[in-house]
Amino acid sequence: MPKQIYITRRIPDAGLKLLDEKGIHYDMCDEHNPPCKKDIIKKLKKKQYDGVISFLTDPIDKDVFDACPTAKIFANFSVGFNNVDIEEAKKRNIAVTNTPGTSNTAVAEHTLALMLALTTRLTEGDRYMRAGKYKGWDPCLLVGTDMKGKVIGLVGTGAIGSEVARTLKHGFGSTIIYSDVVENKALEEETGAVKKEMDELLKTADIVSLHCPLLPSTTHLINEDKLKMMKKTAFLVNTSRGPVVDEIALVKALQNKTIQGAALDVFEFEPKLTKGLAKLENVILTPHIASARESARNMMAEIVAKNVISVLEDGKALNSVIK
Ligand code: DGY
Repeated sequence: MPKQIYITRRIPDAGLKLLDEKGIHYDMCDEHNPPCKKDIIKKLKKKQYDGVISFLTDPIDKDVFDACPTAKIFANFSVGFNNVDIEEAKKRNIAVTNTPGTSNTAVAEHTLALMLALTTRLTEGDRYMRAGKYKGWDPCLLVGTDMKGKVIGLVGTGAIGSEVARTLKHGFGSTIIYSDVVENKALEEETGAVKKEMDELLKTADIVSLHCPLLPSTTHLINEDKLKMMKKTAFLVNTSRGPVVDEIALVKALQNKTIQGAALDVFEFEPKLTKGLAKLENVILTPHIASARESARNMMAEIVAKNVISVLEDGKALNSVIK
């Protein structure tokens, strides 16, 4: 009997091709909007699936595992895996994998784009033009600030944070400070980055950029008190996970000009926006697209497929997130 898996959203052909080559059958939900937990459970109960390819928008917990007792793997199509109850998977001996290293370039470049959009006031300028407000060159119009020479505070220096640091160092001569649970000696040597306590970083950085995973210890890491520690001229960039920032506190800080501005690709109540956020001029919002590049998406599709194949053929998860 051929192996069969369920894929909760469409993945690029690069991954499907690998599954086809191995004769692994798949049912794939073809809708664009994320399915809710109830729908996932309903679909999983239809057949005895050997595995599942899931997404960061899918809550994978006890109930979902119960709905698919034959699954040996949940291959998560993302670097982050905070949507999966890892402890529960571990108890049940179900493999859980992610797609490390697939989006370092994409997310680092998107982070840079957000930083530059903030310092150059790019999106404000775009809105100004479209509103027909431009009446001619004005030396005082939308005056921004240089990126060059800025102190950048990176919270988390894994693969993505490190890529951001390298690009900033080599492209803009930035001074890099970072906070992390571990010392990043390689990054220090390559970029001159200096490790700081979190509060010290917040007080010193011109731009604070978040690159940590979402954990109980990083939930609301940036809250009202922490925002108050930042410079009045500072910017906050979040391309990690929404709940790392207390978004209600952030809206207040942006309204009161406690900090100068923020750029967010991820949201605390995703896909909902916290009240007041979209009305602010000093915030840039993108719809969780930092890794949305063909190269990254194809790599992610190949990695989830390879993990499924490896677990179903040899019982080995190539990119296990279970320690
Ligand atoms: C990830 O990989 O975790 C991104 O947030 C989505 O691609």
